[in-house]
Amino acid sequence: MKQSFCKINKIEGELVFRGDKSISHRSVIFSALSEGKSVIKNLSNSDDVASTINCFKELGVEFNFLEDQLEVIGRGINSFNEPSSQLDAGNSGTTARLLSGILAAQNFNSELIGDESLSKRPMSRVANPLRLMGANIVLSDNNFLPMKINKSTLHSIEYELDIASAQIKSALLLAAIHLPKESKIIENLITRDHTERMLQLPTFYERGGKIIFASQLYYPKKSIYNVPGDISSASFFIVLTLLSKNSELIIKNCSLNESRIGIIEVLQQMGGDISIISQNRNIGEPIGDLIVKSSPHLSNIKLEEKIIPNIIDELPILSIAGIFAEGDFEVRNARELRIKETDRINAVCRNMENAGITITEFEDGFRLSGSPKSQSNIFESYGDHRIAMSFAILGMLLDNETLINDFESVSISNPMFLDQLAQISN
Ligand code: S3P
Repeated sequence: MKQSFCKINKIEGELVFRGDKSISHRSVIFSALSEGKSVIKNLSNSDDVASTINCFKELGVEFNFLEDQLEVIGRGINSFNEPSSQLDAGNSGTTARLLSGILAAQNFNSELIGDESLSKRPMSRVANPLRLMGANIVLSDNNFLPMKINKSTLHSIEYELDIASAQIKSALLLAAIHLPKESKIIENLITRDHTERMLQLPTFYERGGKIIFASQLYYPKKSIYNVPGDISSASFFIVLTLLSKNSELIIKNCSLNESRIGIIEVLQQMGGDISIISQNRNIGEPIGDLIVKSSPHLSNIKLEEKIIPNIIDELPILSIAGIFAEGDFEVRNARELRIKETDRINAVCRNMENAGITITEFEDGFRLSGSPKSQSNIFESYGDHRIAMSFAILGMLLDNETLINDFESVSISNPMFLDQLAQISN
């Protein structure tokens, strides 16, 4: 589907986002693992979280969709049904990778598959450390889905992550909570911490890094989850408000987890008028309200390596803010962007070229110089929700009409994107 966007006059109003996608995945996973009825409020209505639910249905977990909450009847440790068919993670890397840790610990064989994009994303990054725990995993071409996970006996592990990835860390922690003996996972670059935070795993900070311990003691118990609003979905509207004239947007109940608010910190340092007007805690996760106001004079800043994992999903929309800010916008140390839902370095560079921006492409990032030309633009989403939404925002800042190809991919994270836009723009 092609979607057209035109310049907006201003942004005004208030938005509340559906539950954060990362926290929603984990709420479903922990509910499915625990024994008895858990309740999830404000669950993400994204396609990705639906993929996680579908996989657990196949494993025998019961889900009751009520008006404003999801009831999950969990199975308890080692009592999933052996799946009668392949488990389909759809487009969702988080589903495939987190589930691989759980499936490796089960007493049955299983097979994970995904859509065309997910089938091109590397899986040896989770399979290899899980193999060190004793997992018997066979990957297609040694790296890709389908992933066959044959039953085996796992043992605990001490492992230092060599890739900054919350998905790898979480897969290992999820395998580790099935085992009586403690595992120790070390991360040198801090990534999103929802798994260890929600499971209340013991964590220690050392020399800028983090050590996390996990064992059966921390296997999840049934609970009530109230998922904070998705800060990644909010970031598109934050950037649009900052760059639009006479605009003001209030965002309520937004996740303000320290390992996710890099986008707010960077935009504030660039001169963005964003204030946190209230702050609270919910299922151990910080949550609060934000007020965002037009900020006509942004300046680009140097993005340090250690902030990259915190803003990894927001780099495409940050690059839109970057081309309206003073100075060049440069991202380095972000090779991970090449293996997201699409190669996001390539996607950003090609679309920016189209908008008349001068680009320098690096293996691990890009530099963007100059301002966008006011011309009719057609941008490709590359089937990637965050690319589609980022260039839709650009379309609303340019004078002429913009078309985005394959816009339907937005439902991967936010099926409400267009409705929310209509609610606050005029
Ligand atoms: C996620 C971790 C990140 C992020 C993804 C969600 C998670 O991936 O990009 O959108 O929920 O754990 P990596 O762990 O591959 O960096």
